[in-house]
Amino acid sequence: MASPAPPSGGDTPGDSGTRPGSAHQMWGGRFQGAPAEALERLNCSLPVDQRLWRQDVQAAEAWAGALRRAGILTDLEAADLRRGLGQVAERLTNGAADHAPDEDVHSLVERLLYEEVGTVAGKLNTGRSRNDQVVTDLRLWLRDALAAVDAEVAALGRTLGGRAAEGIDLILPGYTHGQRAQPVRWAYVLLAHAWPLARDRERLVAVATHLEECPLGSGAVAGSGVAIDRDALAAELGFRRPSPNALDVTGDRDFVVEALAALALVGAHLSRLGGELMVYASSEVGFVRLADAYCTGSSLLPQKRNPDVFELARAKAGRILGDLTAMLATLRGLPAGYSKDLQEDKGWLFDAVDTVLLTLPAVRGALETLTPRGDRMEAALDDGLLATDVADGLVRQGVPFREAHGLVGRLVREAERDGVVLPAVAAARAAAIHPALPAVLAELGTWEDSVERRGTMGGSSRAAVARQLEALARAFAAPWPRSHVP
Ligand code: ARG
Repeated sequence: MASPAPPSGGDTPGDSGTRPGSAHQMWGGRFQGAPAEALERLNCSLPVDQRLWRQDVQAAEAWAGALRRAGILTDLEAADLRRGLGQVAERLTNGAADHAPDEDVHSLVERLLYEEVGTVAGKLNTGRSRNDQVVTDLRLWLRDALAAVDAEVAALGRTLGGRAAEGIDLILPGYTHGQRAQPVRWAYVLLAHAWPLARDRERLVAVATHLEECPLGSGAVAGSGVAIDRDALAAELGFRRPSPNALDVTGDRDFVVEALAALALVGAHLSRLGGELMVYASSEVGFVRLADAYCTGSSLLPQKRNPDVFELARAKAGRILGDLTAMLATLRGLPAGYSKDLQEDKGWLFDAVDTVLLTLPAVRGALETLTPRGDRMEAALDDGLLATDVADGLVRQGVPFREAHGLVGRLVREAERDGVVLPAVAAARAAAIHPALPAVLAELGTWEDSVERRGTMGGSSRAAVARQLEALARAFAAPWPRSHVP
């Protein structure tokens, strides 16, 4: 370890004898005393933002290079700093952030750097501020986080596609308003939950396009006082270009809101999928049975098999919505530029990313292992589900649909009154409603025939489902765009 030790800004000028391991402050020359402990506790963000240390070190290395090119650092100094940053990274890998006393990740990295290379560490912050630093770190972090979320969303999408392909023969009631409406394929229901995930992937990519500008070199508010080549700096860190306005970019957290909104929607999709499966898994409906590995038990009721995985997915969606709401509520009150309020952003963003990454594999596992119960699905198919087919049959005989709708309504009433299924209404009584009805009823065929009658693109017929399976297989196989992972 090199000496001398880093200056501690909160102390009396001249007193630079901070011990290694004690808090390192990046400011304080103009203050007479140390900050109050209560303020320090409120102000400290290290427990949350220490997750950014890799990005902070990466950006610091690039900044050292930019300072060297600008003539602020000699080659030797820049090399010293880079070597020191490597050692800092190693110490952080080995847990140097645990219980560290520093205000935030930037002070932590700077303290460790002082400990490694001595006073030259003090040159690194030339023309740089924590305001441009933190938002650079956060963009770098989010770039990887979005790719990780995307990979999990795609994996769930592939699972849904696989289960759908297996389940193409199973037919169950399709519901609207919670009421049985028309027969559909089980595959079709699963795919209805896969399409939102395909859109989620598109949204995550769209969010990543707003991470393409590099804030570093913006300084605190008005640009850097050093003639930094920001294009080269941006390129080195894998950004497409430097950000165009220092005041804007240091206070911009739109990308956090966008990421949270995209994550909240992923959460909502998992919640809707889980909610529907919870109903299907209920004792009353029983269309699916969850594997033991994805059920939990009750401490009191020995017979219980609880679908906690889906209940938790439902609750996690609310949690992410809370993160989004908190971020947006904070942002709306702020002028352009950095305000300390923005320090809170990371807690919400990390929480939302962690929550989604925790939930997705569990929902995927539950789906991979659940058993669809074709017998229960079939038992729920009642003849009322054929009413639209009867009306369509009359339409083929030239009856206007609105009229056919009314006629079939009367037929349904007759069947209900007689306590028989639709096709069993006596031919004479059906004919009394409309002369073409007996023939239409005789031609209704099987549930499979009914589903196959809806072969339009986007429908539930075998061919229409096969087309969707292909399109979704492509959507979920597509890799995360390379340009966003430099
Ligand atoms: N810990 C701060 C944050 O997360 C870093 C930026 C602090 N900037 C400042 N001027 N105090 O936002």
